[in-house]
Amino acid sequence: MTTLQSVSPKQTGTALGGVVIIFLSILLIRQLLKQRRPRGFPPGPTPLPVIGNVLSLVSEPHVYMKKQSEIHGQIFSMDLGGISTIIINGYDAIKECLLHQSEIFADRPSLPLFKKLTNMGGLLNCKYGRGWIEHRKLAVSSFRFFGYGQKTFENKISEECMFFIDAIDEYKGKSFDPKHLITNAVSNISNLIIFGERFTYDDTEFQHMIEIFSENVELAANAWAFLYNAFPWIRILPFGKHQRLFKNAAEVYNFLLKLIERFSCNRVPHSPRHFIDAYLDEMDQNSSDPEASYSKENLIFTVGELIIAGTETTTNVMRWAVLYMALYPNIQEKVHKEIDCFVGNNRTPTLEDKPKMQYTEAVLHEVLRFCNIAPLGIFHATTKNTIVRGYNIPKGTTVITNLYSVHFDEKYWSNPGLFSPERFLDSQGNFCKKEAFVPFSLGRRHCLGEQLAKMEMFLFFTMLLQRFHLQFQNGLVPNLAAKLGMTLQPHPYLICAVRRQL
Ligand code: HEM
Repeated sequence: MTTLQSVSPKQTGTALGGVVIIFLSILLIRQLLKQRRPRGFPPGPTPLPVIGNVLSLVSEPHVYMKKQSEIHGQIFSMDLGGISTIIINGYDAIKECLLHQSEIFADRPSLPLFKKLTNMGGLLNCKYGRGWIEHRKLAVSSFRFFGYGQKTFENKISEECMFFIDAIDEYKGKSFDPKHLITNAVSNISNLIIFGERFTYDDTEFQHMIEIFSENVELAANAWAFLYNAFPWIRILPFGKHQRLFKNAAEVYNFLLKLIERFSCNRVPHSPRHFIDAYLDEMDQNSSDPEASYSKENLIFTVGELIIAGTETTTNVMRWAVLYMALYPNIQEKVHKEIDCFVGNNRTPTLEDKPKMQYTEAVLHEVLRFCNIAPLGIFHATTKNTIVRGYNIPKGTTVITNLYSVHFDEKYWSNPGLFSPERFLDSQGNFCKKEAFVPFSLGRRHCLGEQLAKMEMFLFFTMLLQRFHLQFQNGLVPNLAAKLGMTLQPHPYLICAVRRQL
């Protein structure tokens, strides 16, 4: 009989090696089984063992996916390291899923990254069910009550625009990067609803929070994030961009917690001054219901999501709009003319001017179409087994909506690669809506801030162009390629805002 003492180090090493090999083989088999395409699932590009198609997402995934849809069809599948995913491309397919089967496509996938960041609570990442319904309802009613439902709210946006214009004036026509000023001004509109107050442009703490939050939006589309979703155990690795994502998320969480405490300290129950008060009222009223989803933690996640969803998107639309006005002076001139004609220079533009300013509307729509702020929207998941175009899509499947492919869908847009506001105008120059225009997505989870974003974009854009002529320094055109992340943003660029001679 072999005793413990008689086992040599070599034998121990061999035995350990055997155990490791068996363990790794089990992991590999498990992974390969996970990678099997479910029966009746849409076809797609051939995945690599273990990592599947993750590497294809490293650069311009929206463009790659549109190209793949030309080979495999508008609905095709990809394997994201064992996560069976369907990609929906083109307007017809997106409409079939998000509108015609809206409840079935209303969930969010329980991916490890989302679980870690928000525990699938809050609002934007929340699973479809009571928690989402409660949070969405409260957010929509608060946006109305503290925001665009109030007559004075438009004046508050105009006031913020004036702070923004004054800050630009300080550059006296010299070149500057407008990113920070636009971010501050845009985030303040959501801040008015969430905190009942704006933050000054020199509030470095708030700015830092927005900066690292926005870095996370970029990191969430990084290959490391996809790897973490496929292999959550990589959290133990001391390196990798996912670690930075977690560090930023923890910092944002603590900062928001402090902000929420500060803004709720003099709260009078049932007299809400802003979203946070309204949420705390709801929490009190439902305190005896064990099924209610309101909690301090979900409040922090929701506040964070509302801030970032509202800031990152609208800021980038404005940054692209400024860039394209400098790039196309003839388009800028037409907007100037329209402002001069309908508003003049004795007053600031108002939302009442919006229906009259059809060319300006066409320009803003074309910026949203062409620049594809959220090219892949936010990932969805199915709530039930379903059939689309004859394919079986099981419950819980991750769904990516390629909104970029809708805005570049040749069936609906002629010459989609061309920046042309005229495509939104009829032969009389009247603005005309386009069916395949979906920057805010469709269906149950469509953007909650659409109305607010449209108000902000119109007022910021027209007030800016009422006063300034936008041009590149010495006519030098910057890099026009988009910087990749969950949103598409321009690379940092310099602009000269020269006061117009009115
Ligand atoms: C031009 C600006 C904006 C664009 C292009 C945009 C785009 C989008 C898109 C594509 C989605 C994903 C919808 C889906 O899952 O199918 C979304 C969701 C969302 N957006 Fe926006 N958005 C903008 C502005 C805003 C603003 C200003 C807010 C609020 C302050 C906001 C709050 C949200 C929220 C909370 C969701 C998640 C909705 C849910 O899961 O129920 N967005 N947005």
